[in-house]
Amino acid sequence: MHIGILTGGGDCPGLNAVIRAVTLALINECGARVTGIERGFLGLMTRQVRPLDVDAVAGILAQGGTILGTHNKCDPFHYFGAGGADKSGDAMDCVRELGLDALVAIGGDGTMAIAHRFEALGLPVVGVPKTIDNDLCHTDRSFGFDSAVAVVAEALDRLETTARSHGRVMIAETMGRYAGWIALEGGMAGAADVILLPEQPFQLEVVAERCRARENREGYTLICIAEGARAEGQGMTVAATLADSPDPVRLGGVGALLQHQLQPLIRSEVRATLLGHVQRGGSPTPFDRVLATRFGYHAAQLVRRGEYGRMVTLTGSDIASVPLVDVAGRTRSVPVDHPLLAAATGLGVSLGVSSPGTAAAL
Ligand code: F6P
Repeated sequence: MHIGILTGGGDCPGLNAVIRAVTLALINECGARVTGIERGFLGLMTRQVRPLDVDAVAGILAQGGTILGTHNKCDPFHYFGAGGADKSGDAMDCVRELGLDALVAIGGDGTMAIAHRFEALGLPVVGVPKTIDNDLCHTDRSFGFDSAVAVVAEALDRLETTARSHGRVMIAETMGRYAGWIALEGGMAGAADVILLPEQPFQLEVVAERCRARENREGYTLICIAEGARAEGQGMTVAATLADSPDPVRLGGVGALLQHQLQPLIRSEVRATLLGHVQRGGSPTPFDRVLATRFGYHAAQLVRRGEYGRMVTLTGSDIASVPLVDVAGRTRSVPVDHPLLAAATGLGVSLGVSSPGTAAAL
């Protein structure tokens, strides 16, 4: 058996842990040959591959990033290198030349969508859910999320001491794309006073009122805002639109925007910090190392059993799998009745709305 592995989309802590687990399980339990496809699906277009064996994956469990490299623009069905033409046939030629029996694709909704299309062309595929955003359907967690939340929590801990010292309003902007999972869990872990999510357009005056109330009592305020959050009546803040990308919109800058809109409404100085790619870099947390390892091992079991066209999932504490078609190109946002939202408001955290739970879904 000859199995290919690739990592697609943005990088994420825990990718190497999955590569290691898939490789070791396939070698130890099936005597399989394993090949790494470099830079996501681009490696199938450019024929950049490398053998993976026990030595190749030694010592990578705790390493951030991906030893295989990744690419977030390469969709062979709309290949940027050919003006958007369908070059999936070239990729399938590469699969045949390599003699791959199946592919393990580690990635987010976009990677799962591409993997699903290759499955339809006859390439057996198993998917592993990756994203710091935690916005993939049918899995309670994707690996990388816990690591990102840890970064946000630490950042808020640090911002709190300087906010308190100066009597400032400090805003931390998180990643998360169109979902508020990172801001919600990071904000709760870092004791934010205000948490603003894409799922609940906020009212500027409600945020200002919370800051004014805290000016008089605690003297400072900590705001955690998701990059996809927006004030009522405003659109999301777009940092860039990338040419040739299947997912061209890059969000960013809403923290700075809020700083400027909030400043005239309150006495204390407002400052914004964009956490950015710091949330995606570095070593995975122990939770993510274990989750990524469990996902990788389970993916290898699906390959071993010939159960293709599926993505591994975490439901509660159980690892299972769902058909790729159920997750391909779909995302999951924070539901308005999520228990952590109730806990947040119960503890006095402002979600920036006068009546939480009435938010419009995206
Ligand atoms: O999907 C992961 C993510 O980090 C998002 O949270 C963020 O919006 C986006 O990727 C950033 O992408 P890039 O690395 O291309 O700027």
